[in-house]
Amino acid sequence: MTKAVRVHKVGGPEALVYEAVEVAAPGPGEVRIRQHAVGLNFIDVYYRTGLYKAPGLPFIPGNEAAGEVVAVGPGVTHFHPGDRVAYYHNLGAYASERNIPWEKLVKLPDHITYEQGAVLMLKGLTVWYLLHKTFKVEPHHRVLIHAAAGGIGLLACQWARAMGAHVIGTVGSKAKADLALANGCDHVILYNEEDFVARVKQISRNELCDVVYDGVGKTTFPGSLSCLKPRGMFVSFGNASGPVPPFAIAELNNHGSLFATRPKLNDYIGTRSELLEGADTLFAAVINGKLHVPINHAYALKDAGKAHIDLEGRATTGAAIMRP
Ligand SMILES: NC(=O)c1ccc[n+]([C@@H]2O[C@H](COP(=O)([O-])OP(=O)(O)OC[C@H]3O[C@@H](n4cnc5c(N)ncnc54)[C@H](OP(=O)(O)O)[C@@H]3O)[C@@H](O)[C@H]2O)c1
Repeated sequence: MTKAVRVHKVGGPEALVYEAVEVAAPGPGEVRIRQHAVGLNFIDVYYRTGLYKAPGLPFIPGNEAAGEVVAVGPGVTHFHPGDRVAYYHNLGAYASERNIPWEKLVKLPDHITYEQGAVLMLKGLTVWYLLHKTFKVEPHHRVLIHAAAGGIGLLACQWARAMGAHVIGTVGSKAKADLALANGCDHVILYNEEDFVARVKQISRNELCDVVYDGVGKTTFPGSLSCLKPRGMFVSFGNASGPVPPFAIAELNNHGSLFATRPKLNDYIGTRSELLEGADTLFAAVINGKLHVPINHAYALKDAGKAHIDLEGRATTGAAIMRP
């Protein structure tokens, strides 16, 4: 019998119930995976609390994992039992085994571990599209990355620095500041203690930033807009502190003809070729040493509630995995 974490009623971390579930044989176009590592993400918290709506109850949270193929359904020719694979897919990852449409899978190169694969498919691909597609970072750019020591944050700081940008990060503690500095930040701001807008002005000698990557949301808005130079790009990609409130579009004019976007990964890997482009670029960056994957926490899947408490309590840095 497969074990999985399910949510029967949205709520706090206690809503995550570890229990036995039935998994049918893979249907047409499906692949069955025995999962070795599951990625922990803030989006899992949004689904658990009900901020993001799952299609129904109960549901299995989790959007990224890695493992080995154990069976394939009718019509699947690209994957075979024994293949090492990883994926990003909406819900269902908090499980020891699962079925998944083959189109969602990528093969893991030999040099990428299951643990790395499990945290790269959502976090890594997100950083890939944010820095290469949403706003193409170039060497002369000054970039502000909020929550710079987080799962997305450490990868984004490293990659933006490797692309030649000048990187400013915000973090919640001195220990996180040291970590962000060791992972590509040129400057770090303790945004719970310092006025981050004033510090960005000071660091940039009032030239401000070309782009702000903001996954924090409510508490960094509208400050993030004030950190941008005229025609800069506000990338609001998450809500760790709560959603950005509705605002008048004229605010973009007031702050200097700004651009603003609220992107999501699904829209950047909607086709198989986009998914493979992102995964190939990402894996190459890791294999070439451009990107180090900071997996700083490991939990048993049955302790998913504890993992959520730590993530929501700002007690994690970098990426965290859960082992089924
Ligand atoms: N749009 C997309 O495609 C996409 C894809 C993946 C993730 N995301 C978003 O990216 C963001 C980061 O995700 P992640 O999984 O890597 O999480 P994470 O950054 O590892 O954790 C969230 C961090 O946010 C900061 N934070 C600020 N205010 C907070 C609050 N009130 N409560 C909790 N944390 C707070 C904390 O860092 P400090 O202590 O340093 O403040 C915390 O460690 C999330 O908003 C997530 O939804 C978006």
